Amino acid sequence: MNIPVIAIDGPSASGKGTVAERVAATLGFHFLDSGALYRLTALSAMKHGVALDDEAGVAALAVKLPASFRDGAVWLAEENVTDAIRAEAVGDGASKVAALPAVRAALLDRQRAYRQAPGLVADGRDMGTVVFPDAVAKVFLTASAEARAERRYKQLIEKGNSANLAALVADMQARDARDTARAVAPLKPAADALLLDTTHMGIETAVQKVLAHYDLCKAHSKQGN
Ligand code: CDP
Ligand code: CDP
Repeated sequence: MNIPVIAIDGPSASGKGTVAERVAATLGFHFLDSGALYRLTALSAMKHGVALDDEAGVAALAVKLPASFRDGAVWLAEENVTDAIRAEAVGDGASKVAALPAVRAALLDRQRAYRQAPGLVADGRDMGTVVFPDAVAKVFLTASAEARAERRYKQLIEKGNSANLAALVADMQARDARDTARAVAPLKPAADALLLDTTHMGIETAVQKVLAHYDLCKAHSKQGN
């Protein structure tokens, strides 16, 4: 299969979603926010009263998750859950269900189905390592926990929510620790990923660096063929 994939991984608020979406728009590629699938799975479990550590129960929900991305919104069946899945509690729940191997297995084919012509930009934790190991270009975004918590703080305040910066730093560190320590598909850069620290880097610069890296990788892979 030679439909190109650009895999963008990294911890929470490293900028991967914003960067991935802009890269996809620039190239006219499809876009996959894989974290949204884990968030939808957690939200679905919460709504169905399934415990977040009930591996078989959560995996059964993940297999038949009625998720769709349409009209710029995220849907769980006929319910618009675009804002609901962004709550910190759902992010925390997503990170819990994401540690369950049967849940990850249940979501694998669904993620790979987004690989459609002319190409895909996928963001998450394991896009370059597990889901699309043959991605033509892989990028791992990082930023300090403080910078990432400040970004989330700004997002919450801008939406009119109250927020506590110290609590956000603590939540961020707890989620990073859980995502990094888990046995299956832990958060770590692929061996062949470009590392980009965005602590002091604007979004547009990061986008340009990803596009330049893709051009370089594409040229290399053509030479190799
Ligand atoms: O936007 P943010 O980075 O905070 O989170 P997200 O990408 O929406 O992902 C939410 C949670 O889902 C993460 O903390 C991970 O535990 C999990 N996740 C994962 O395990 N693998 C992925 N490919 C994407 C997300
Ligand atoms: O997808 P992920 O959780 O990695 O992060 P995001 O949702 O793309 O970015 C979180 C917030 O940080 C957004 O409001 C971005 O606009 C902002 N951001 C930034 O100010 N500077 C960057 N270099 C990257 C992201």
